[in-house]
Amino acid sequence: MAERKIIAVLGATGAQGGGLVRAITEDADGGFAARAITREIGSEKARELARLGAEVVAADVDDPESLKRAFEGAYGAFCVTFFWAHFSPDKEIAQAKGMAQAAKHAGLRHVIWSTLEDTRKWVPLDDNRMPTLMGKYKVPHFDAKGEADRVFAEAGVPTTFLLTSFFWDNLIHFGMGPKRGADGKMAFSLPMGDKKLPGIAAEDIGRCAYGIFQQGREFVGRTVGIAGEHLTGTQMAAALTRSLGQEVRYNYVPPEVYRGLGFPGAEDLGNMFQFKRDFEEAFCGARDLEQSRALNPALQTFEAWLARNAGRIPLD
Ligand SMILES: NC(=O)c1ccc[n+]([C@@H]2O[C@H](COP(=O)([O-])OP(=O)(O)OC[C@H]3O[C@@H](n4cnc5c(N)ncnc54)[C@H](OP(=O)(O)O)[C@@H]3O)[C@@H](O)[C@H]2O)c1
Repeated sequence: MAERKIIAVLGATGAQGGGLVRAITEDADGGFAARAITREIGSEKARELARLGAEVVAADVDDPESLKRAFEGAYGAFCVTFFWAHFSPDKEIAQAKGMAQAAKHAGLRHVIWSTLEDTRKWVPLDDNRMPTLMGKYKVPHFDAKGEADRVFAEAGVPTTFLLTSFFWDNLIHFGMGPKRGADGKMAFSLPMGDKKLPGIAAEDIGRCAYGIFQQGREFVGRTVGIAGEHLTGTQMAAALTRSLGQEVRYNYVPPEVYRGLGFPGAEDLGNMFQFKRDFEEAFCGARDLEQSRALNPALQTFEAWLARNAGRIPLD
């Protein structure tokens, strides 16, 4: 059997990277092998990936030398940053530089950079429709990833720029599920007005990335957007109603209200939803559903995701 191409996967014990490791290990004859990168090779999650057949190696994205070692001998890498672990866009850009340098050093043939739009191309800093945050960003966790695209390009790393979408898993892990209001009714709140929000099962991001590695170099240098569905808040509430067996209403919370909710990251997310609401056509247009399904034929719809996961959404 020909030697398998090693894909080094950052965030392997997490949502996006985990989906990629599982996609690779489930496809034993696919020609690829997964190298799962973690800070803690002895953790239960890391051991589970080893049981699935992944090689597990230690590295920290804040330690570029450890990344160089982790990328050595690989064919490709999946690169992702972890904004919500530190809330620092500048740190994301520095980490992306370390990844790009390590990829160049290892001579990788194909890197997928999990990115998002630099919203300042649509909403310049002097556009007051939304506040400027941290002095130089509109949507810090988007802008930094988009700004870091050029880091890979300038380093001469053969890169596919993967535009991801809102994880439906946020309804489980990010406190974004429906809540019971004072009137006793369940309400699903989003700052989207009547506009469509591209969403995806987080697991499917890694599975689409696997499709990109399989297609190979025709995707190098390209930006590819993925989503499972583009849905309005009303459509999502209707799907939640069917799945949970109780009425869930869509509650539009304007971005200016959302920004003031006071939880860490509320302003960033308020600006993010406003960007998605106000630039619906461009944002949805960049995330083609047919292409996403072609990359990952098992791509889940919101209904399909709910059928598997509705029981995990915390309801009060
Ligand atoms: N939530 C959304 O809707 C959404 C949508 C699009 C994009 N995003 C972006 O997705 C990114 C996070 O991806 P994710 O949700 O897949 O991550 P995740 O599930 O939070 O996984 C993070 C994993 O990465 C590892 N990690 C954390 N810090 C690390 C470090 N310093 N060095 C090496 N590994 C580290 C951890 O593994 P170990 O503990 O094993 O080391 C952890 O299991 C964020 O930047 C966010 O902006 C989120």
